[in-house]
Amino acid sequence: MNFFKAFSLSFLCLVNLFNTYSQSSGSNANDKTAGKILTGQLAPTPPMGFNTWNTFQTKINEDMLKEMVDVFVSSGMRESGYQYFVLDDGWMAMERDQNGSLIADPVKFPHGMKAFADYVHAKGLKFGIYNCAGSKTCAGYPGTRGHEYEDARLYASWGVDFLKYDWCNTDSLNTPEAYKTMSAALRATGRPIVFSICEWGDHNPWLWAVGIGELYRTTGDIGLSFFSNKKYGNWEAQSVISILDKQIPIRKYNGPNHWNDPDMLEVGNGMSYNEDKSHFSLWCMLAAPLAAGNDLRKMSPQTRDILTNKEMIAVDQDARGIAAFKMVMPDSLEMWVKPLKNNELVICFLNRTGNSKKIDLDWKDLNISDAQSGLEIHFDNQYFSLRDLWLKKDAGKTDKKLVREIASHEVIVFKLVPSLK
Ligand code: GLA
Repeated sequence: MNFFKAFSLSFLCLVNLFNTYSQSSGSNANDKTAGKILTGQLAPTPPMGFNTWNTFQTKINEDMLKEMVDVFVSSGMRESGYQYFVLDDGWMAMERDQNGSLIADPVKFPHGMKAFADYVHAKGLKFGIYNCAGSKTCAGYPGTRGHEYEDARLYASWGVDFLKYDWCNTDSLNTPEAYKTMSAALRATGRPIVFSICEWGDHNPWLWAVGIGELYRTTGDIGLSFFSNKKYGNWEAQSVISILDKQIPIRKYNGPNHWNDPDMLEVGNGMSYNEDKSHFSLWCMLAAPLAAGNDLRKMSPQTRDILTNKEMIAVDQDARGIAAFKMVMPDSLEMWVKPLKNNELVICFLNRTGNSKKIDLDWKDLNISDAQSGLEIHFDNQYFSLRDLWLKKDAGKTDKKLVREIASHEVIVFKLVPSLK
């Protein structure tokens, strides 16, 4: 029984449903005023960096963050392409000063925020910060509502390169308008500041955020779970798989300078090695922003190897910026396919089930078609060499059957390069 032939019709229908060609052009971002680099043009590939929230929440301070900055460099993360060191919620004092200006918490940051930004820049990194469109941040610190232009000017004076802008305590604010206002305020400073929209996908930002920000969250917060969401009272943390599935219908909106953001990474925070590897691979397949969220000072060699896998990162950073699409396989296996430049592509086999499985694939029975990218492959008369991106070695060609065990929650990822038979 040839499962691939049997399934090819059904998966093609599925793929076509989601991939009607409508790649957004990002045309709103073509504002060329006075030769400045403007908001909406600062992230031709998905931004990569580190964010404090997943591990530390508001328990941050200058000393530990400086250690983290040092490890960002010494661990090879900077060299692997990570750039932004981002402070999430909790960096501020609980009140603005007598002039209405935000101030860094004087206990957490005794030397002030400019000094910390200078430290980050001196290491060849970029500096990011957090605030919220509402009257208070999600953790209860002073929000930006009504202070958009003065806060933007303050950030620019500190040398901020990236602003994550959240959506708590916003009452009746109009979402696109609030983000447009802050985007204009950042633009008015003349400093290139990547604008990261964080309203959890509640108001379909993929429909209006192009040219306003470079990335926009598409879901609620990620939690430390691969398969199932976790409930905390009336709040539900999203699992890796749940977030992954929510990216399918919005795939077509992803692209240079307007990235669907499936939230920060939980790699190194307590999932299994296979789960961490899968989480990272899938985010790369999605062409997602990559924000490490682990304690860099304590990361294991395995965690470092995942986060700094340059061949996998190159998939994320491919210039076409096309997110992967899903093809269903027999026995609940999945293939995620990401078209790359130069007629190359990446196939990520995913076993989301609780049992290990066998991949038994005769390539010549497989056809892949993707209207969005124009990808059309018939493996019975097109040949590709295979490179295993986790074993980091060449793995033959598509003229031979692929037979591999794939563990529960594991991925196997191949880069395919056109080749002669
Ligand atoms: C929201 C965001 C998180 C984080 C916290 C900070 O929940 O979605 O990513 O920034 O706020 O309070």
